[in-house]
Amino acid sequence: LLQTQAESRIAVADSDALEELRVALLGKSGTLTAALKALGAMDPEARKARGAELNIVKTALTQALAARRAVLDAAALEARLAAERIDVTAPVRPELTGAIHPISRTTEEIAAIFSAMGFAIKDGPDIENDWNNFSALNIAAHHPARAMMDTFYLQGGEVLRTHTSPVQIRTMLDWAKSHSTQADAQPIRIIVPGRTFRADHDATHSPMFHQTEGLVIGRGITLGHLKGCLIDFLRAFFDIPSLPVRLRASYFPFTEPSMEVDIGWNRKTGEIGGGTDWLEIGGSGMVHPNVLANCGIDPREFQGFAFGVGIERLTMLKHGIADLRLFYESDVRWLRHYGFAA
Ligand code: PHE
Repeated sequence: LLQTQAESRIAVADSDALEELRVALLGKSGTLTAALKALGAMDPEARKARGAELNIVKTALTQALAARRAVLDAAALEARLAAERIDVTAPVRPELTGAIHPISRTTEEIAAIFSAMGFAIKDGPDIENDWNNFSALNIAAHHPARAMMDTFYLQGGEVLRTHTSPVQIRTMLDWAKSHSTQADAQPIRIIVPGRTFRADHDATHSPMFHQTEGLVIGRGITLGHLKGCLIDFLRAFFDIPSLPVRLRASYFPFTEPSMEVDIGWNRKTGEIGGGTDWLEIGGSGMVHPNVLANCGIDPREFQGFAFGVGIERLTMLKHGIADLRLFYESDVRWLRHYGFAA
């Protein structure tokens, strides 16, 4: 009786009930265990018959429990496989992907163009000493250019560099040091993309912005080299082979002669290369003999040119971006529009 009853309950038990049944039947104080224990008190004849009977029951119940357990486990596995099934045909969730910031992209484009022309990429620190940022560049202590540049002064007489030009000084000093005879010297050909700082803030000025400096020093370097280099660069950057480029006489303390760099555009439509208007995009000139001498380079033996262009400026012109401040606002919609897929 015990066996049939137990078997019919085992046949429909769920996982927990099955465990309860196992304990109730075969556990330490289970029914069957108790019956087996009771054998000890019986006389040998009765014990033999009862023992054989109980062993058959025990085997049958053990098998029934195991069989039901196997069925339940298989069903549980089926259920889990069904629940965890991956539908490879389901549409992808709309994940946010990153993009290259337009300033980084322009910097990379500039670097690629100048690399192809044999320039190396250099950088320098944001915090500069007064000598590298001003004095060595022929900007004396009371020179009006210091006021013009709205310098951020730091404690201890250092400054946030107002332009990338101090890296000209760092590069020429290193070069002069490592080429004491200067007879075997390889020419300097570098560009310096980087952050610059001026206390100024409106739609076209930001207290932090980016420039790319260019510097070439060697023997027999002329203004013709400067002009050819800038024309090649600007036509490649804007991808306009006939882009008009004009060098307009100007003044910088660290170059002589100095020239503003203009490109042709249409002021009304903003179209680069079209129209008859001129737009300034940077400064340039032949490195001033005083600057060469300040760096320990003999100006009678070596000449060179330098230029500086604004990275934001070039990016705004190339992509028709109207307000400089948008570059720094981290507006995700704007970044998604003007950024570039990584
Ligand atoms: N440093 C100048 C500026 O920031 C630009 C420049 C660089 C001009 C090199 C001439 C030569 O305005």
